[in-house]
Amino acid sequence: MARAELIENLNKALSFELAGVIQYSQHSYLVTGLEREVYKKFFRDQAEEAQDHAESLGDKLVALGGIPTVEPAMIRQSTDLKEMLKQDLELERDAMAAYMAAWAACDDNDIAQKFWLEERIADEQLHIEELEKLTSERISKVNSEKIILREVS
Ligand SMILES: [Fe+2]
Repeated sequence: MARAELIENLNKALSFELAGVIQYSQHSYLVTGLEREVYKKFFRDQAEEAQDHAESLGDKLVALGGIPTVEPAMIRQSTDLKEMLKQDLELERDAMAAYMAAWAACDDNDIAQKFWLEERIADEQLHIEELEKLTSERISKVNSEKIILREVS
């Protein structure tokens, strides 16, 4: 039972990673203007990482006796950079939820699967934090207070 739930959630994560390969690639093709200089490579690197994650999920699913999905999750498209970054943040959060659900489906004594998932969850959290900074959802409050103090004095 727990094994079936684990496989189901790993397959969900795989569908988000497959969507990530396509979505990040699409964003790398579509980004234009001065930002292209930086963001073409950024999106290509993210697509490559999603591909690596998809491959390790596919291998893990077979090791657990499952069949890896060939269906990507919903792919979000835009020609606007800020919108692209928001869409990527949403995708990373969806993937994180699937990884967390897979972790919760592990048996208590299944240390190896849990550890494997924890490494991936830590990785995904860094992606989310970076995208939150890029979309300005995450800002340093301490820094902005210091800036205000400097302006006042
Ligand atoms: Fe990933």
